[in-house]
Amino acid sequence: MSFFTVEQAAGRLNRSELAIPGSQPQMFEKAAKTDVDVIFLDLEDAVAPDDKDQARKNIIEALNDIDWGDKSMSVRINGLDTHYMYRDVVDVVEQAGERLDLIMIPKVGTASDVYAVDMLVTQIEDAKGYKKRIGFEHIIETALGMQNVTEIAAASKRNESLHFGVADYAASTRARTTIIGGVNPDYAVLTDPDEAQKRQVHWGDMWHYALARMVVAARANGLRPIDGPFGDFSDTEGYLAAAKRAAVLGCEGKWAIHPSQVPLANQVMSPSYEEVTKAQRILAAMTEAAAAGKGAVSLDGRLIDYASIRQAEVLVEKAAQIARG
Ligand code: GLV
Ligand code: MG
Repeated sequence: MSFFTVEQAAGRLNRSELAIPGSQPQMFEKAAKTDVDVIFLDLEDAVAPDDKDQARKNIIEALNDIDWGDKSMSVRINGLDTHYMYRDVVDVVEQAGERLDLIMIPKVGTASDVYAVDMLVTQIEDAKGYKKRIGFEHIIETALGMQNVTEIAAASKRNESLHFGVADYAASTRARTTIIGGVNPDYAVLTDPDEAQKRQVHWGDMWHYALARMVVAARANGLRPIDGPFGDFSDTEGYLAAAKRAAVLGCEGKWAIHPSQVPLANQVMSPSYEEVTKAQRILAAMTEAAAAGKGAVSLDGRLIDYASIRQAEVLVEKAAQIARG
């Protein structure tokens, strides 16, 4: 290990994160009854400009009045380039800050963006005498944000998670797609011809680099990497595949833009019984190995060593965190 210790952000369960437009209060009660880990009430892109004021009021009322149980509650404010943003922060934190766990900052571009919101939130919290500190979730969804992702990840003690906003990221990088998440048949390679002169098309994941880069910046700063939206909510298999590949890369959770996606995210982002059992066997085998003075042994015909302990501990700790709820 490095001599430098990476401090870990609050250990909040974040397998699923449900987006609910602040302008659709009829959806709030239903959202509160889902088994989701985090809900973000949206003031940004799901709300039309003329509805921003009313959406803010709906969110304040809902945070104060609805029983959200033990869910973590977040509000997605408008971008720092709009005149809505300061009032989003001032009104929501002043009037509902005690039930608010997180603020989601969209299209964050530089560490200074984080600093600006931090300053505002700190002033309001101090003025109101709140004991709890509100955490930050940042959506990495612009070329600028991705370029500065490392500095953004380190920009505030409030930082908890980085989210890959695939839709805006596609727009910002001018990627040739109009769907939200998912794959593109043009992002593919052709195999060499086989004996019958047949070639196969192998589709690739056009978001791999961006997601992997964000995961590294998040983990290097003790934050949770979270994969963003998958727009086609009737495509269960497509969602599961997108969530699985994000989990494999190290993401802890994925957005749900529809309540039907919540159980899918929870399922994929929770280690399976088989994974946890295997991890427990690795830990047991390594404990035995250590007692016998060995640093590496074989389990099921494969080498395991001290790195295997760390991998196994991550899975076992995640399972324990889910069990704690
Ligand atoms: C989320 O905000 C996205 O743009 O994908
Ligand atoms: Mg976006």
